[in-house]
Amino acid sequence: MEDPLKQQFLIDLNKIDSLQALLNTKAKYIGKKGILTEKIKILGQLPQEERKAQGKILNELKNFIEEQIKNKESELKQNQIRESLTRDYIDITFPGKDYYFGGSHPVNKTLLEIIDIFSELGFTIEEGPEVELDYYNFEALNIPKNHPARDMQDTFYVNEDVVLRTHTSPVQVRVMEKKKPPLRFISPGKVYRCDSDVTHTPMFHQVEGLMVDEEVSFSHLKGMLIYFLQRFFGKKIPVRFRPSFFPFTEPSTEIDIGCIICGAKGCRVCKGTGWLEVLGAGMVHPNVFKFAGYPDRKYTGFAFGMGVERLTMLKYGIDDIRLFFDNDIRFLRQF
Ligand code: FA5
Repeated sequence: MEDPLKQQFLIDLNKIDSLQALLNTKAKYIGKKGILTEKIKILGQLPQEERKAQGKILNELKNFIEEQIKNKESELKQNQIRESLTRDYIDITFPGKDYYFGGSHPVNKTLLEIIDIFSELGFTIEEGPEVELDYYNFEALNIPKNHPARDMQDTFYVNEDVVLRTHTSPVQVRVMEKKKPPLRFISPGKVYRCDSDVTHTPMFHQVEGLMVDEEVSFSHLKGMLIYFLQRFFGKKIPVRFRPSFFPFTEPSTEIDIGCIICGAKGCRVCKGTGWLEVLGAGMVHPNVFKFAGYPDRKYTGFAFGMGVERLTMLKYGIDDIRLFFDNDIRFLRQF
């Protein structure tokens, strides 16, 4: 007849449905104070013959229980794995998550391109402060206080003598004060104006250019800027020089290119004209040389200033300047 302890164990074993229950049953029979352990402990009190026979039975039972527990444990673990596989099912054919690499902002790309082209033409780079003295932003550029030309740019005033620079032209004077000709540099940077619509933002970037020497002429200005625009746009785009006015250049010109957005037919960006202004330029006004401390009539030079966002819009066919500053990742990813 089957040992009642073994029978009892088999009944308990059958009921086990978790690893915790298995541990409890294991402890109940073969733990430190388990039923079988206790029986083994008192074997020593039996007479030798009986001890031997009983010892053999109990030992076999212990081995049996240990083996059953081991089998049950692996069965439970297998079940657990099977369950988690059905519960946490992973469809390995499902497309993975896309990871995007960061890239340069389109305005920065344009800035670097402009710098590259002018570097090849022998221009160096100069920088000036964004919070600028009224003196450099206006007065030394031949725009005295209360002069009507100040209305050409809507200025953010910090106080009566300090402004957020409205253009990069103040760098011209700062550099000329320190260095003597020949000069040939560009100055890229941020500028600020109280202005906002599809082609204007309150902060934008300009690149100033200045070339000064003893015989610099308007032809040099024309040649360099046409070369630059055609290199930048990579084809023979229409370029026109329109007479204009800047207090710090004489003569002055504004340079337009054929609107690339509409193919020069007329759209909301070019305000129906087919042309877009990209540059202001001219021959340095003698008064600016005077403010810089250069001798009278010794030098001539040309200067230009371009809007970097404007050039970027044209190059990539973007019809609203504000997109550059919205930080919409879907827009920025296209570059
Ligand atoms: C100037 O700022 C002159 N300092 C340029 C200059 C330099 C002339 C040297 C002569 C000699 P203007 O205000 O036109 O000029 O601005 C130059 C360019 O900046 C414009 O052609 C335009 O492309 C861009 N720009 C002007 N205002 C804004 C604005 N609010 N948002 C974006 N771009 C602008």
